[in-house]
Amino acid sequence: MITAEMRRIVEENTIGLVATVTPDGAPAVSPKGTMVVLDETRIAFSDIRSPQTARNIGINPAVELNFIDVFRRKACRLKGKASYLPQGDAGYDELLPHFQKWDTLVGRMRGFVVVEVTRAEVLSSPIYDVGATEADLKAQWLAHYTALMSTSSGT
Ligand SMILES: Cc1cc2nc3c(=O)[nH]c(=O)nc-3n(C[C@H](O)[C@H](O)[C@H](O)COP(=O)(O)O)c2cc1C
Repeated sequence: MITAEMRRIVEENTIGLVATVTPDGAPAVSPKGTMVVLDETRIAFSDIRSPQTARNIGINPAVELNFIDVFRRKACRLKGKASYLPQGDAGYDELLPHFQKWDTLVGRMRGFVVVEVTRAEVLSSPIYDVGATEADLKAQWLAHYTALMSTSSGT
């Protein structure tokens, strides 16, 4: 389900946008940087200060995650069912080693959200439909962000 290409998009791009459903049925999207691909069907992130996401999952476990590779103009969309493991839960302790790499934040992780993925797909920009290649796009967008960072607005 989570292929090697999807894993690369998740791990290299680091920030996932997590969509949940609020109690009144509205969509809610928020960014999470502490994402870990656990295996081919599960991905997890930490709740450091995500009160609404945690609340929404408790009421409705349906979630969708999106990771965007801004250089290659591709994305990974994962749909699934989330569960929340609070600090003190045996499941929390099992997952903790995966999050140790965020050493300065790990002590603030109030819980972990584990998403059982039911659908996974790679999305690509329409720019590919008109002949662009991954190598061209990578070079073009790397140049774009490098130029941006060297201007005063990028400081
Ligand atoms: C780039 C970025 C990465 C973030 N990563 C996390 C994270 O891994 N865990 C977390 O709890 N909050 C993270 N946050 C902060 C939450 O997104 C933020 O506190 C937000 O208000 C939570 O909203 P929610 O309760 O609707 O999820 C991150 C924010 C940004 C901008």
